[in-house]
Amino acid sequence: MPIESGNPVPSLGNIARFVRGIPKAELHVHLEGCIEPELMFALADRNGLTLRWPTPDSLRSAYDFPDLASFLALYFEGCRVLVQERDFYDVTRSYLTRAHADGVKRAEMFLGPQSFTDRGLPIGSILNPILAAIRDAEQADSISAALLVSAHRHRSEDDALYLLDSIMPWATDIAGIGMGGAELGNPPSKFAGFFRTCRERGFRTTIHAGEEGPASYVREALDLLRVDRIDHGNACLDDPALVRDLVARRTPLTVCPLSNARLHVVPSLSQHPLRRMLQAGLNVSVHSDDPPYFGGTVADNLLDCHQAFGLTMDEIATLARNSFASAFVTPSAAAHGIAAVDAFVAAFAP
Ligand code: HPA
Ligand code: ZN
Repeated sequence: MPIESGNPVPSLGNIARFVRGIPKAELHVHLEGCIEPELMFALADRNGLTLRWPTPDSLRSAYDFPDLASFLALYFEGCRVLVQERDFYDVTRSYLTRAHADGVKRAEMFLGPQSFTDRGLPIGSILNPILAAIRDAEQADSISAALLVSAHRHRSEDDALYLLDSIMPWATDIAGIGMGGAELGNPPSKFAGFFRTCRERGFRTTIHAGEEGPASYVREALDLLRVDRIDHGNACLDDPALVRDLVARRTPLTVCPLSNARLHVVPSLSQHPLRRMLQAGLNVSVHSDDPPYFGGTVADNLLDCHQAFGLTMDEIATLARNSFASAFVTPSAAAHGIAAVDAFVAAFAP
């Protein structure tokens, strides 16, 4: 029976409880994009850096972006405050604490080391503290967490291959390889050799595609790079044959509605195509991307979609099941997550 039956418009209190409580996997979040303004100031202070803003609130009010490029400029500026090993530890640990409170049972977090290795940080000083924070969070909160190493698409393929070589000593601790950065003008085909090498070395792969870029970038990601997931992927809707292929292959699309609204990838949250993507049969799930920059956690994304265009409890449950089905985990761990969603939905008392 549909869970809304007899209660077609759930009260905000009910839906908020449902959204926060439902088990979910966060598959598209960038650690560099998780530095809350207060933490940004604390990290700047302990590293002897001065920010361009006088207070955390004034920094927060600068989070107003006409497009992806303007966001990335501020995001890379914010990366400057991550200097010492304990900075990477603290950002990871504080994100995982918030995710746990949000009902996230599995978190796969991107970090792009090139921002930091450029400044001379050794790769181990970046990866080791993140992996330590993951272990500590897993022990403290029984959350399952993993690192995805992300390469920058606005740099060269050789740069990406150099990064790949540098992380090989940590290969068994890394859940997958991703790619972000400025999309337009940097199509997936630029990195065909890099993604082939990642696959040959046994890594799972994902790439941002179809966020600002066209449907042809999603097609390249699917057929040329043969990635396991696509981050965003919204533009696929412009190509019905591509949608058919994505549906047939159950390719996961990690959609970030608040990010899309804040970066004007969609005209407004109420016009976000998430429902159309679900109705097309695409394997979509909802994620936060860069929570403080875009205004919320994964639960906030779901709740805001409920308020903006009436995302239903049934749809939220489907998105939560899809998130576990799309995680870089064993089939039995994915099935366990999906069963936890089913049990939560069955037990939920409005
Ligand atoms: N797109 C591309 N690169 C990124 C993003 C994004 O939304 N967030 C962090 N890096
Ligand atoms: Zn992203």
